[in-house]
Amino acid sequence: MTVKLAGVKFWGSRYMKRAVSVFLAGAAVLFTVQPSIGAGASAQQYLPNPIKQVDYLPFDKKRAALGRLLFYDKVLSGNRNIACGTCHSHEHATTDGLSLGIGEGGIGLGPKRRFPEGRAMPQKRVPRNANALFNLGHKDFRVLFHDGRASVADTYGNGFNTPAEEWLPKGLSSIAAAQTMFPITSRTEMAGDPAENEIAASRRERIDHVWPRIAKRVAAISEYRSLFGETYPDIAGPGDIKMIHIANAIGDFINSEWRSSNAPFDRFLTGDQTALTQKQRAGAALFYGKAQCSTCHSGALLTDQKFHALALPPFGPGRTRVFDPYPRDVGRMGETDQITDAYRFRTPSLRNVAKTGPWGHNGAYATLKGIIDHHLNPLEALQRWDRKQVILPANAKFEQTDFAIWDDTREMKRLQRHIDIKPLALSNKEIAELVAFLHSLTDKQALAGRLGKPLNVPSGLPID
Ligand code: HEC
Ligand code: HEC
Repeated sequence: MTVKLAGVKFWGSRYMKRAVSVFLAGAAVLFTVQPSIGAGASAQQYLPNPIKQVDYLPFDKKRAALGRLLFYDKVLSGNRNIACGTCHSHEHATTDGLSLGIGEGGIGLGPKRRFPEGRAMPQKRVPRNANALFNLGHKDFRVLFHDGRASVADTYGNGFNTPAEEWLPKGLSSIAAAQTMFPITSRTEMAGDPAENEIAASRRERIDHVWPRIAKRVAAISEYRSLFGETYPDIAGPGDIKMIHIANAIGDFINSEWRSSNAPFDRFLTGDQTALTQKQRAGAALFYGKAQCSTCHSGALLTDQKFHALALPPFGPGRTRVFDPYPRDVGRMGETDQITDAYRFRTPSLRNVAKTGPWGHNGAYATLKGIIDHHLNPLEALQRWDRKQVILPANAKFEQTDFAIWDDTREMKRLQRHIDIKPLALSNKEIAELVAFLHSLTDKQALAGRLGKPLNVPSGLPID
């Protein structure tokens, strides 16, 4: 049946192909796999197939080892004071444990991170919650960021549709590698103020002027020179080290470090009925049945990688646009300019979700129960939302405007007009079962990482 249907040519559109393959994935489970959530065929059929190692992009071990050092090396930031690992740390489940973090200029790690004293203050808080990085090397991951502004697509002849458009160089080996090109160019995340360093200053010229300057810095460090030479056959001397080599190393590191396919839920999918507790199985039956979670959190990664508006309580600096200067975050619409995409955000993967809080694109909820309650009735949840739960490093200046969006009644009305989810009544017992099920997605091996955090890095700069 699989072969026959997949071979029919007129199922030509991408949408139809996906519909067919989703249906078949479901059918395959019905006919061949045994895990039972005890909820009858209707919920059962949406259980995903288990993740297999061939579902991941291949990676090069040398590149991954080099990428691990670069990921934690502050030399990639304009003022040499922040690394990727500061916001995506092994210690905090690949994120930072904050609702909205502090980028360039901040001090410390995780919930203890704070604003500096006596030095130029960062321009603003980071406008969105730092994504977790699990399974990004899975071949199904084709769109990144809360608004999907980086995706696999050949729009510009370089393999990816990103904010750098045609200025993104060719030769990037994965979407994670392509993404790496951006935090280092961002003033709030890593580059800093144009008056302070050559990296941020070159960002004012054009985005692709930043990358050679970063590569030059890395090439000036002798340990990196040898490591790049050993890793890449096309590097004969320091002048050959390019930003794409740096990005491909970090990409291979991310893609291999945080594969997550060994949670109790995965063992359950491969047929081990005892992997889930009774309560977790009840939660799974709800997730794939009555609660309809899997209509959006579908497949082995628990995301459809599409965009939906849930009207999460907005706060923070927002992501303002050139012609739209007051604080707000319109989500996917900022990328597509389609009103139908207003306030939509990408469905996040739920792998290790119990460890990646606070939750939502801005970290609006401090508990899993809180974010689930919100899904069940967004308008009511907005009425009840307690702003005290947000986890924001203290700062007298930003605190004056942190809730400017929340206090903007016209913006709040617009937000409430765009909701893609229908209210659904569940009992507290059922919500507790869903929370228990989400805990079955925690994979201890993935949280530890394949290589783990390094003790030191070639620049000699301290690691956060
Ligand atoms: C200041 C904190 C900060 C730093 C430093 C930082 N990131 Fe992030 N990262 C974020 C935030 C916030 C997002 C979500 C942004 C958005 O969606 O608009 C994100 C998103 C991502 C994503 C997308 C994941 C997904 O599922 O869509 C990847 C991959 C990533 N970062 C990797 C990196 C790498 C590699 C570096 C270093 C070159 C880095 N980050 C540096 C905060 C940071
Ligand atoms: C209509 C699609 C849709 C449905 C149905 C749905 N979700 Fe979500 N879910 C999303 C989107 C989109 C987000 C991110 C929203 C945002 O950040 O603005 C999200 C966020 C979450 C988060 C936070 C994850 C994180 O990393 O911050 C959890 C947990 C979650 N959903 C669980 C559930 C559960 C449990 C159900 C079933 C009761 C469910 N979802 C049903 C689309 C959906």
